Amino acid sequence: MNSAPLFAQQVSSRLEIPDMGIWPITAQIKRARLVDGDLIVDWDDQKSSRFLALWLREQCPCTICHSDITRETLIDITDIPMDIQAMECRLDEMGYLLVTWSDQGHASRYHPGWLRANCYDDWARAERGHTRPTWGCDFTVPEFDATGIIENDDHLYEWLTALDSYGLTRLQNVPLEHGRVAHLAERIGKIRSTNFGTVFDVVSKPDADSNAYLSVELPLHMDLPTRETPPGLQFLHCIENAADGGESRFADAYHAAKILKEEAPDIFRIVTTVDYCFQNRAVDCDYRASGPLIKLDSRGEPIESRINTFLTAPFTHLPHEEVKAALEAKHYLMRLLNEDRMRVQFKMAPGDMVAFDNRRALHARTEFFPNTGHRYLEGCYLDRDDLGSRLRMLERAKTIAKDATR
Ligand SMILES: [Fe+2]
Repeated sequence: MNSAPLFAQQVSSRLEIPDMGIWPITAQIKRARLVDGDLIVDWDDQKSSRFLALWLREQCPCTICHSDITRETLIDITDIPMDIQAMECRLDEMGYLLVTWSDQGHASRYHPGWLRANCYDDWARAERGHTRPTWGCDFTVPEFDATGIIENDDHLYEWLTALDSYGLTRLQNVPLEHGRVAHLAERIGKIRSTNFGTVFDVVSKPDADSNAYLSVELPLHMDLPTRETPPGLQFLHCIENAADGGESRFADAYHAAKILKEEAPDIFRIVTTVDYCFQNRAVDCDYRASGPLIKLDSRGEPIESRINTFLTAPFTHLPHEEVKAALEAKHYLMRLLNEDRMRVQFKMAPGDMVAFDNRRALHARTEFFPNTGHRYLEGCYLDRDDLGSRLRMLERAKTIAKDATR
């Protein structure tokens, strides 16, 4: 491919914005070519990627199109002609893709790692759209040492990868001090405060504003289905657990979805499409929210659940003939979740902390008896976004460290 001198000058005077250069290179570009104004990149592992010209032009990382301070887009994307075409392309000496465009000869330079991480061919979408493994009673909950997580980012990365995949992990050796749950959660991101405070104590209280603060058995549930976006992650640190009873139980809502889809497709259809209603009518607040018991993404895979039988609000939006089927479907799902094949159960010891996806790993507690000993857990919430962001930042740091040793 030819490259005009003007082309090289335009590119070199506008380096890409800083984070556009931090991408792991998992494959090199062997060659690039133009087809009907779009770009085709042939990789050195025999794969090819096609990029629509408009898509690629909109993502131009140059400092005219993006601010090198905020790293956000500066141009009005509607100024890019819908019929834009790539006029010329070549690789530079670093293996980056250089493109000149039909709109006023604008030139762009793309990092091969960025192109590979963001290409959207059938094979790439299939690779990227991995389904998280689901679990039942034979699941061994991944365990981690809290000391390593506090001190070492590699240990933190291992923990967060497991939390992201399975939605349930267990930490040990958390010091028996107040505030430790927040300390560990803040290794990920900012704590999400709710109407139950920033850090909450799970103890039996005479003036309880939640069933969690009684000593009764708590059925499988998620917290705060009453909120438009319920917290994504929950952390519970066991400081004392000397009372008889009070075992922790978990079940995977994604696993339940998988079983329902196979064994009871009619129930699956109802719990994934009908909006169920939740309410928290407390003394000083009145939250309401609704949504399907199991929500699916565009691929039909479960992405969250909204399940809690003690914060149920009445249906007010369904016609009479649909109410019974909706309630029957909920009962069916709850019976399934409570089956032995779904159950992971253990008693937390002082120094244990469970970290779980509140919108996936439903939790329960067996009844405990406060007259036999003290039970005291401290908890807090984060959003799922914080986990994703932290994981990507840890991956970015790994890439920077690897580049520095090259
Ligand atoms: Fe809870």
